[in-house]
Order: sequence, then structure tokens, then C-alpha cells
Amino acid sequence: MPSSLGIAVIGAGMAGKAHAAAYRVAPTLFDPLLPPLRFVSVADVNESVGAHTAKRFGYERSDSSWQAIVEADDIDVVSVVVANHLHREIVEALLAAGKHVLCDKPMAGTLEDARAMAAAAASASSVARLGFTFHRAPGIVAIRNLILDGTLGPVLHYSGRYWADYASDPQGAMSWRYKGGPGSGALADIGSHVTYIAEYFAGEIRSVSGGRLSTEITERPLPLGPVIGHEHTPVSDVYESVENDDYAAFSVAFERGVGSIEASRVAGGHPNTMIVEVFCENGSAVFDQRNPSEIGLYLPSADNTNNGFRRVQLGSGHPYIAGGLAMDSTGVGFGQNDSFNYQARAFLDEVAGLDEASSLPRNASFDDGVHNMEILAAATESALGGGRTVDVHRVGASGLAG
Ligand SMILES: NC(=O)c1ccc[n+]([C@@H]2O[C@H](COP(=O)([O-])OP(=O)(O)OC[C@H]3O[C@@H](n4cnc5c(N)ncnc54)[C@H](O)[C@@H]3O)[C@@H](O)[C@H]2O)c1
Repeated sequence: MPSSLGIAVIGAGMAGKAHAAAYRVAPTLFDPLLPPLRFVSVADVNESVGAHTAKRFGYERSDSSWQAIVEADDIDVVSVVVANHLHREIVEALLAAGKHVLCDKPMAGTLEDARAMAAAAASASSVARLGFTFHRAPGIVAIRNLILDGTLGPVLHYSGRYWADYASDPQGAMSWRYKGGPGSGALADIGSHVTYIAEYFAGEIRSVSGGRLSTEITERPLPLGPVIGHEHTPVSDVYESVENDDYAAFSVAFERGVGSIEASRVAGGHPNTMIVEVFCENGSAVFDQRNPSEIGLYLPSADNTNNGFRRVQLGSGHPYIAGGLAMDSTGVGFGQNDSFNYQARAFLDEVAGLDEASSLPRNASFDDGVHNMEILAAATESALGGGRTVDVHRVGASGLAG
């Protein structure tokens, strides 16, 4: 185990702050088996944003370029939390410099970039992982366990939908989220999550059909200042074209079972609604990100007078809560930020050299990230081909164990 680990975060925007905070919390989850952590730097081209985040979360310094992180001798572990199209250049440089990298999803701006990153990771001496954060939610893991232990049994039908409304306002400023080819919009941004969870529940997707991509707001005003996350920013009267999808949908076929995946960033009134539902041989279950401390569970009984879904409160009997949360009793609640904390902890476990048996399940591999992007590319190809069926062939081992 290293004597200490120096931590940095590149990108101090919406999700960068969650990474910066997560490293602070990670050692407090479960037993303190980690080496001492040094919270070294937060880097952002927007200097004031980087400096503010570094100060807020107790990092020693801030930097205004990602290159400074690559070159720093006192940094071992780096989260990459910038726009998707920037991931490749930064991640390749970090890996070449021997840094351990946790890159946020989706893996890259293009499938080609993702494949190059996976090749770089395969020849790197350091750890490279991806942040598909939702498989850290206790309810998601609980449902998966109910599938695998036979309580629910094999998935016949999966429904995954991620509705957001950050793009509903036509006066919402242009940002990196609206640039890139077809499929790089809602599909990549939030559809990547429900696609990852589809395979986490039901196994590998073998084909995609019925693809649909749609851009409802075709141009947006340029911002007058920096755009952070989904925050509203003053805008100019100069407009640029939106290049990608506001709405995406497609059907999937697993080895066994079928499903539908839907992603929208123009779903007014749904700031962050991810609902994943499985209908299985022995029952059904649903997870709703708006109520992340519970799942709905339906196990049919002979007594059909009181049959139906029941609410299961997540608690000390569920993964991630007992021994993990500081107050770990049933009903204390769990939120999306907690998932970032577990994600960071799993990454640090691996970097510190803890074996898998005494660690949290590993984060997604770069091969998993490429596979996820291959599915999104197939959905895009289906959409551009009038909904035709496109086969998906996984290259590389599946790491969907955690
Ligand atoms: N896992 C999740 O649940 C989750 C949630 C939100 C976002 N994300 C992902 O996180 C990434 C960032 O998304 P976001 O919403 O935080 O974006 P954001 O726009 O809010 O923040 C990006 C930050 O990167 C900075 N930046 C831009 N170019 C840079 C450069 N060359 N070097 C250093 N910093 C630079 C910007 O100034 C900004 O502060 C994306 O890949 C996104 O898909 C993941």
C-alpha cells in the first residue's frame, strides 16, 4: 500500500464538485483501510471556479490547466470531469504520466476516441476507471441482487428512462452539451446511464432497434459568461445551432428479454428523473432517482386481494448503507452525492492495492465504457437508418460485476 495518495480533480463544474467532495468523504466510509490522502489540487480553465472549489473542499491549491496536473509530482490520483470531447486528450496524457484516472461518463466524445483511450489504458501501469455512478445506489444494487438470487429471477422486460429538463428553456445558453454529432446529446449525457444499468440488470445488449433522435430546440443563444452544469447564465442575442439530440429512444434485445431506453433533456418538471424498472419471471421492481431511499417491489402472491407493489425502505439490510454511511440505520436517506462517495472509495480501494474481496466492487472499466458507447452508436445508427435493427458485439471482457 502506498504511504499516501495525492488527489486532484480536473473540471470544477457540476460533477467536478461532486468528485472533489467525494474524495473527502471516501475514507470515512467503511473501515479506514486507505492510506492517508492528500487533497492536492482542483484544476479548471476557469480560474476562479477552480480556486473556489479547491478552497471549499479543502484542496491545497488550484491550477488553471490540466497540464499542470499531468506534470505534478505530488499527484497520484485524478478525476477527469470536463466536457466529454475533452476526455481523450487529458486521459491519455495522465495515463502516460502514470496517474491513476477516474474519468466521468460517457467515456468520450466519439467512439473512436473511446477506443483509443481503452488502448492507452490497456498499456498503462496505472488504474483507469469510469464513473457510471448509479450502480452505487443501494436501490439499484438491491434490485440487481434480487434478480441474481432468484427472488425476481431473469429479466423479461427492462424499462429505463432518464428525463431531465435542463434544455427545456429555449433561452438556456449554448454549451458543450449541445455540440457534437447525432447521439452526443441526451443519448450520451443521460441515456448512457440507463443503458449501463440495463446491462447491469439484464446482461449484455445484443441488438438495438427503433432508434429515434430528435432536436426540438434547434438553436440557442451564446452565453455572456461561463456556463456551469445546468445553471442559467445571461445570454447574448447571437444564436448558434444545436447539433445533437434533445430526445432519444430505442429498443434493446438482451440475450434473453427485451427493453426500452428513453432519454430526454426537454422533460419540463423533471430536473433529474431516472426511473429504471424490471419485470422478471418472479416479480417486478422499480427504482426512482427522486426517491432514492426506497424501491418498489412486486412479488405476486396467491392472495390476489392485496397484491401489488410495495415500498421497501432502504436501510441496514441493503448494500452500501450498513457500515458505510456514518449513521447507517434504515430510513436515514441516501442521495446521488452519496453514490459519488462510494465511487471514489471503490477507486481508492483499487489504487491502494486492496484486493477485490476486501473492497467495494470495482468501477466500470474502459472496456465497459467502449461497450456502452458502442450501444449508443448502434442506437444512433438505428435512428439515422429509420429505426433499423443494429447488432451489438462486445469486444473486451465485461466488468459489470459491481
Ligand atoms: N456521473 C454523473 O452522474 C455525472 C453527472 C453530471 C455530469 N457528469 C459528467 O461529468 C463531466 C462534466 O460535466 P459537468 O456537468 O460537470 O460539466 P460543467 O460544464 O458543469 O463543468 C465542466 C468544467 O470543466 C471546465 N473546463 C473546460 N475546459 C477545461 C480544460 N481544458 N481544462 C480544465 N477544465 C476545463 C469548465 O470551466 C467547467 O468548470 C461530463 O463528462 C459529464 O457527462 C457525470
